[in-house]
Amino acid sequence: MKRLDGKVAIVTGGGGGIGSAVARRMVSEGARVVIADLFEDSALRAAEPLGEAALAVQFDAANPQSVSALVDRVVDHFGRLDVLHNNAAMTDPAKSAQDTTAPDIPIGIWREILDVNLTGYLLGCKYAIPRMIETGGGSIINTASNSGSAGDLARIAYGSSKAAIIGLTRYVATQHGRQNIRCNSIAPGVVLTEALEKTVPGLKEMIQRHILTPEFGTPDDIAALVAFLASDESRYITGENISISGGGLVHQPHYADLLAFMESGD
Ligand SMILES: NC(=O)c1ccc[n+]([C@@H]2O[C@H](COP(=O)([O-])OP(=O)(O)OC[C@H]3O[C@@H](n4cnc5c(N)ncnc54)[C@H](O)[C@@H]3O)[C@@H](O)[C@H]2O)c1
Repeated sequence: MKRLDGKVAIVTGGGGGIGSAVARRMVSEGARVVIADLFEDSALRAAEPLGEAALAVQFDAANPQSVSALVDRVVDHFGRLDVLHNNAAMTDPAKSAQDTTAPDIPIGIWREILDVNLTGYLLGCKYAIPRMIETGGGSIINTASNSGSAGDLARIAYGSSKAAIIGLTRYVATQHGRQNIRCNSIAPGVVLTEALEKTVPGLKEMIQRHILTPEFGTPDDIAALVAFLASDESRYITGENISISGGGLVHQPHYADLLAFMESGD
């Protein structure tokens, strides 16, 4: 008996780095998974190796009709819905580049990012919860970020959306706990994806100074946490925000400088 046997899950942004790892992991643990993404080709690419246990669906997280149709499609195809992993996030590089500071961000970009990253998660909950209740309950896992718990020099809309996801999670957990709906958020720090490898030269090393573990986490590390939260093994955990970031937010801000000073022997 695998711990996700019999469960049906939706992974939004399932064509991406973390989402596709989550889908793989859930299928390996016995679930049937709908890989839902704005880009059909990436959803299909992620679903193809998983055979009949996975279904690729194109949808737009920012569009209420599209999210509602996604949930209907899942229940029509697999007969039930037990797990929702709200994980999609605005990835358009041209738009993300305009996500800067309060005085500079175009208001349209702020709204578009919140529409996908935050309203998209609310919509997932809105349409999934009634279907989960029909079959006895479910588990919702929202991907927040450490950017939702600390400020940064850019990405004010992204960080604000992630902070709000932590609040949304607590509200859903509070309002639907007695209906056997659990809702938790996960907050990755930097995760080693292809995108990080291609980013600003030296950024990876800069960030690595501020994590406590020897290595960066990978999408598979995130997938392991999501699979646990999807399973009944976590049945007493709800409303929590679980950081998965090599201790990125648990130490003093001077940690990296002090460590370098101590290692220099001065
Ligand atoms: N990679 C990291 O270091 C990191 C750190 C913290 C949090 N996160 C969060 O993890 C989640 C997954 O990130 P990732 O690194 O796999 O990124 P990714 O870009 O590989 O995946 C995001 C996916 O969301 C999809 N998407 C974008 N807009 C959409 C829309 N409107 N409707 C449906 N799908 C849409 C994209 O097509 C993409 O497949 C995101 O919520 C991200 O904010 C990532």
